[in-house]
Amino acid sequence: MKTTTLGRTGLEVSIAGLGCGGHSRLGISYGKDFDHAVGVLRRAIELGVNFIDTATNYQTEPHVARAIAEVPRDSVVISSKCGVADEQGLLTGDAYVAKLEASLQRLETDYVDIYHLHGLQPTHCDHALQEIVPALQRAKEQGKLRHLAVSEAFETDRGHKTLKRVLDADVFDVMMVGFNPLNPSARRDVFPATLKQGVGTLGMFAVRQALTRPERLREVVAELIEAGKIDPQTVDHDDPLGFLGDVTDAGYRFSAHEPGLDVVLFGTGNPEHLETNLQSINADPLPAEQHAKLTELFGQLDTHSGN
Ligand SMILES: NC(=O)c1ccc[n+]([C@@H]2O[C@H](COP(=O)([O-])OP(=O)(O)OC[C@H]3O[C@@H](n4cnc5c(N)ncnc54)[C@H](OP(=O)(O)O)[C@@H]3O)[C@@H](O)[C@H]2O)c1
Repeated sequence: MKTTTLGRTGLEVSIAGLGCGGHSRLGISYGKDFDHAVGVLRRAIELGVNFIDTATNYQTEPHVARAIAEVPRDSVVISSKCGVADEQGLLTGDAYVAKLEASLQRLETDYVDIYHLHGLQPTHCDHALQEIVPALQRAKEQGKLRHLAVSEAFETDRGHKTLKRVLDADVFDVMMVGFNPLNPSARRDVFPATLKQGVGTLGMFAVRQALTRPERLREVVAELIEAGKIDPQTVDHDDPLGFLGDVTDAGYRFSAHEPGLDVVLFGTGNPEHLETNLQSINADPLPAEQHAKLTELFGQLDTHSGN
């Protein structure tokens, strides 16, 4: 397993991070039980993954707690998160820290290495910076978390409005950003600034539905043609990414070698996918001509998330 330094956190992390959310939630979303999910986590750790991402609303913190109980706490980097609003509206700083404390209880640990404002909406940035961040900085002084982080709501915020806004404040050590061949706009909009500030980056949506389900890819490409975003003459409508061979493998390799992207998150509940994804993320870069073709086709796009 290749490792890297996660920006100014100084944490030494595997370049592949196991995501305990997404569509699979370690398999729980499609009926797998607690022990199965813990087994996926344990196997990932055995294979050298030391970066694990969970969240209050994934409901997988207890699974992470069980899996990490057997290893030294400082051998794993635990990332969790919570949104700044609930059904009642925006949270106060104190209410938000109570959510962090509940995460610590479920994770059965005294501290979390990285705590994210989860899926921060562009319209919630001011509240986050004025109300939530100061409360989290106090919690950090009390040792409840090591590094403040933010994840964008890439499903809707495909042009990185939130990250562009909060980068100016320079209060987050880590950012979770959507990046894949169908929307590589973070290359232009996010990574130059994160590299300059030393912010660690976690790539999500590397491989989502469009890169695992051929029918979804065809739909996305048809939408892009319809919207005039790609020239229909330049793409094979039936097999738009056929030139890549194994599209899922190519998606992970595309992200893993992007300058400025530190950790590629991958979500799975399938032990076979776990093994092949780790091979892909640790493999060589895509051949230059494939990378150039992706850039020619989709390099300027920020309209789709790849879901
Ligand atoms: N805003 C946020 O904070 C946010 C948003 C999204 C994600 N995340 C984080 O990022 C992590 C990764 O999420 P993601 O959006 O990149 O992906 P994801 O939703 O986990 O999507 C990957 C999907 O592809 C399937 N898959 C994985 N490997 C495969 C393979 N080799 N072949 C075929 N299918 C495969 C998985 O199903 P199987 O179970 O069948 O493998 C899963 O449904 C999440 O778990 C979460 O931790 C955070």
